[in-house]
Amino acid sequence: MSRGKFITLEGGEGVGKTTNLSFIKDYLQQQAIPVTVTREPGGTALAEKIRQLVLDKDSESISDTTELLLMFAARAQHIQHVIEPALAQGHWVLCDRFTDATYAYQGGGRELSIATIALLEQLVQGELRPDLTLLLDAPIEIGMERAQKRSAFDRFEAEKISFFTRVRNMYLSRAAQQPDRIKVIQANQLLVNVQNDIIEVLTDFIK
Ligand code: TMP
Repeated sequence: MSRGKFITLEGGEGVGKTTNLSFIKDYLQQQAIPVTVTREPGGTALAEKIRQLVLDKDSESISDTTELLLMFAARAQHIQHVIEPALAQGHWVLCDRFTDATYAYQGGGRELSIATIALLEQLVQGELRPDLTLLLDAPIEIGMERAQKRSAFDRFEAEKISFFTRVRNMYLSRAAQQPDRIKVIQANQLLVNVQNDIIEVLTDFIK
């Protein structure tokens, strides 16, 4: 059996990741592709506990380095227990956020060293990288407004506009550096148009 493909979905707050994740899953399943859907931080019982720790805005103040290491600790667990076994079984893995989010949030947002992130990426992932990444992009104000309507802010959502501007810029600069892997989807348009753009990218990738 051939190894599955690893697809990740990325974007800032309120860009419509949840809706489009289930759209992508349905589309792949319609093509008779077996899909495992998961998310980061999270995806295993332990990694979901780490997720709660890093998103809890009432916790003691979390240092930027602690936050970075928690993201990679959750990731190590997730790769070993979910992602690698699924890919080895021939499943396609569709993951809501992965290491591009670490570059964007901890590297861009928190301004931690990109070289340090790259070192941890190598340590935790070895050769594992996504085969395809869809980056949903929208102006910060639009995403923040959507996120605000949804629920109370978590520890990241409570950050300032300048933080999210750095996050967005880091995502876009990675997409510009790796255009074959990272496909930017304009999320600030009618959902039907967003989804047509997604189908176009997926069709191209599948063939
Ligand atoms: P969300 O995916 O449900 O929006 O929430 C996850 C939050 O965690 C989001 O604000 C981005 C943040 N995050 C990081 O800061 N670094 C990471 O490596 C990942 C996977 C997520």
